[in-house]
Amino acid sequence: MFQNRLTEMFGIRYPIFKGGLQHLSRAELVAAVANAGGLGFITAGTFPTKEELRQEIRKCKDLTNKPIGVNITLFRHPRATVTVEDYIECVAEEGITAVETAGRSPEPYMKMFKDADIKVLHKTTAVRFAKTAERVGVDAITILGFEAAGHPGREDVTSLILTPLAADGLSVPVVAAGGFGDARGFVAALALGAEGVLMGTRFVATQECPAHPDLKAAVLKAQEIETVVIERSVGNPMRALRNPTADTVMEMEARGTDEDELYPFLRGDLGRKAYLEGELDKGIISVGEVVGLMRDVPTVKQVIDGIVEGAQGIVERLHTLGAPAARGNAS
Ligand SMILES: Cc1cc2nc3c(=O)[nH]c(=O)nc-3n(C[C@H](O)[C@H](O)[C@H](O)COP(=O)(O)O)c2cc1C
Repeated sequence: MFQNRLTEMFGIRYPIFKGGLQHLSRAELVAAVANAGGLGFITAGTFPTKEELRQEIRKCKDLTNKPIGVNITLFRHPRATVTVEDYIECVAEEGITAVETAGRSPEPYMKMFKDADIKVLHKTTAVRFAKTAERVGVDAITILGFEAAGHPGREDVTSLILTPLAADGLSVPVVAAGGFGDARGFVAALALGAEGVLMGTRFVATQECPAHPDLKAAVLKAQEIETVVIERSVGNPMRALRNPTADTVMEMEARGTDEDELYPFLRGDLGRKAYLEGELDKGIISVGEVVGLMRDVPTVKQVIDGIVEGAQGIVERLHTLGAPAARGNAS
């Protein structure tokens, strides 16, 4: 069940993906997704050198014989020490065949990907950007709604609208992302025309995720109204858990600021400490509105099995709703 162009393209059992998660998308989590039948992406940007990324890929391969992927953000931060080309070279050398790209048009890198036989799942927040990516040769598109963690785009359009628009406007398969966390979301994504879902926040609160237990507890406690969008003023909106750092950043943005002034609050080392060491108040923690739906810290396999089994039940229920007797009752 649920076999389609995406499962065939990536050689996976279910069209369920785990996007790149800065600091957290490491070998154990990505291998757990692979072993449960989905596809996860190690976040290249977590590793400041090619060699460290290579070691993480190898560690992941020791934990699974199923396909794994790597997330490469194509936006090169001025303070970065490693180039996008370095990451692509490393991924190709390690025989990875699936990459999640994000951040800007993948056009300059498509030749490198194609020469290495790498399938590209490009993540974007607007259908016009998705069409450009399709034109330059990506294999599939993840369309990211405003509910999402990470960078949900500048136009505040939700998954409910973006997913059918992307499905209508593209020929390549569409993966819906932003706000998905359970079987209901998965079936909704399929109903909207997507062929799969990609989740980030749901996987933060799983047993295999290396996030600090206090962070997982904070994610479970948070309601859907406890995320905020920061960094709008510098043109790169990011959805984050509301905490003292996010509040400070918003106050600074409201009174007028620039990237240099904001940088001390957005620093990667503070984020790392928040995610991995539980210093929850000091760094920016990215999570999506789907926190409001999350109630437990299951294993990755429980998440994926729960989605697949729950989806089968929902499909059967919907089928009953559409049966002639039910239609007769409704009219
Ligand atoms: C903690 C965290 C870190 C993330 N880091 C990245 C990243 O480094 N690169 C990226 O492309 N997306 C990143 N994302 C976004 C996810 O890959 C995914 O697009 C998003 O979480 C989907 O929305 P959802 O959270 O509603 O499931 C991150 C998300 C979370 C929760």
